[in-house]
Amino acid sequence: MQTQPLYEELATSISHLIQTGTMKGGERMVSLRDIARRRNVSMTTAIQAYRLLETQGLVEARPQSGYFVRMPERRLDIRLKEPPAMRPSAKPAPVTVSALIREMMTAPVDPTMLSLGSACPMPELFPGAAINRIMARLTRTRARDLDRYRLGAGVEELRREVGRRSIEWGLSLSHDEVIITNGCMEALNVAIRSVAQAGDTVAVESPAYFGFLQVLEASGIKALHVPTDPQIGMDIDALEALLKKQKIKAVVLSANVSNPLGATMPDEAKKRLCAIASKYKLPIVEDDIYGDLYFGEHRPRALKAFDREGWVMLCGSFTKTLTPGLRVGFIAPGRFQEKAELIKYTTSISTTALPQLAIAEFMRHGPYDKHLRALRRTLKDNVKLVHETVAQTFPEGTRATNPSGGFVVWVGLPKGIDTTELYRRARSEGISLAPGSLFTATDSYKNYIRIACGAKWTAPLDRALARVGAMAKEAATKI
Ligand SMILES: Cc1ncc(COP(=O)(O)O)c(C=O)c1O
Repeated sequence: MQTQPLYEELATSISHLIQTGTMKGGERMVSLRDIARRRNVSMTTAIQAYRLLETQGLVEARPQSGYFVRMPERRLDIRLKEPPAMRPSAKPAPVTVSALIREMMTAPVDPTMLSLGSACPMPELFPGAAINRIMARLTRTRARDLDRYRLGAGVEELRREVGRRSIEWGLSLSHDEVIITNGCMEALNVAIRSVAQAGDTVAVESPAYFGFLQVLEASGIKALHVPTDPQIGMDIDALEALLKKQKIKAVVLSANVSNPLGATMPDEAKKRLCAIASKYKLPIVEDDIYGDLYFGEHRPRALKAFDREGWVMLCGSFTKTLTPGLRVGFIAPGRFQEKAELIKYTTSISTTALPQLAIAEFMRHGPYDKHLRALRRTLKDNVKLVHETVAQTFPEGTRATNPSGGFVVWVGLPKGIDTTELYRRARSEGISLAPGSLFTATDSYKNYIRIACGAKWTAPLDRALARVGAMAKEAATKI
């Protein structure tokens, strides 16, 4: 009779404890040394057993902390209702979010600040060391490629990698259709400036990522908010009704894992939106920066996958998945390719070659997919932990989104609480968060905050969130 290898036997008994709930999600595992001693097996057997449990998705290794039982897969805390879709004003409005953003950006940087504000995963979740090693090697082996102007759309190796990846997004972009940019922000700038100018009106989600609003503000373009559902994104019927009444130069949105709502449009809605783009000759700027951080079974298809006539300009970057510091993004501008190339050229001529080459190599030869899988798992667990703490510590009547991916939760507090005040108060106690007013060109969302959880979810971060909850409760007693 064939016997089970020792490490499998050990893994099976631990997995039984996890599956029966005897060992709970988040619990620290006995150290490898201790388990080896207790079970009278070698360290190699213990390591193999823990690795097997890791590949089964039952435990996770945290650097310098050991192994932990993974949080069970389940829906978010249902005690918290989702915020309702808002009916924003149907009038375009000039954008004025920059003063508050400036206040946030120019506040003294305190390295001990507990960050619930920044929508960027922390370096501890990125393969920074591997990318640095690649860059060090490239400076020796590709030195001649690095010290010259790189005219054109960017390093071909990276454009080819983006093309290969695009298969997963439901596309098949050729490298000629891709322009490399300095992050997604430059891609958005290029895209919006390719199709709209001062005085025009551009439709955005409600609430919308404040970066979209800043680009509009900087270009003197007015924003028109379209009602948006926290689960399925922009209301296409409402958009079409607005299009029938007024001139809208373009739409800017994230069809997948939007910021701050975390909404993902169903394929049917994406198809309809692309049909509307064709009917009204309406350019659409699609920001797919969070598309790879989905929580579902499959990578959601890009809106551009349904675009038959080239109206969709797809923008993305590696900021949320690999490294924010290297500033590498891209745009596939569809029918606006020539204009986009010109604007990219007149903005920054080209993007630095070294980071592009390094990212291309990591995508081609590094453990990119494995890294993305681990990142998605961590972020999904984080969102759940945020939900639990919000449900336990925030005032009665608080609502929170159930995002389809990413690492931000949009939290609605009882009406009357001023979250810009709450933001300033939290900041004075060393906690950052993003107040709701940042996400609109109108005066809505004053009682909303966006909580980001792109770091390892530690006890101090959890306490910081609970502290914000306590401040919100106190504010609720005064309304
Ligand atoms: C939706 C969205 N788009 C674009 C950006 C900016 O991306 P990048 O840093 O690549 O310019 C962010 C960053 O927070 C974002 O959330």
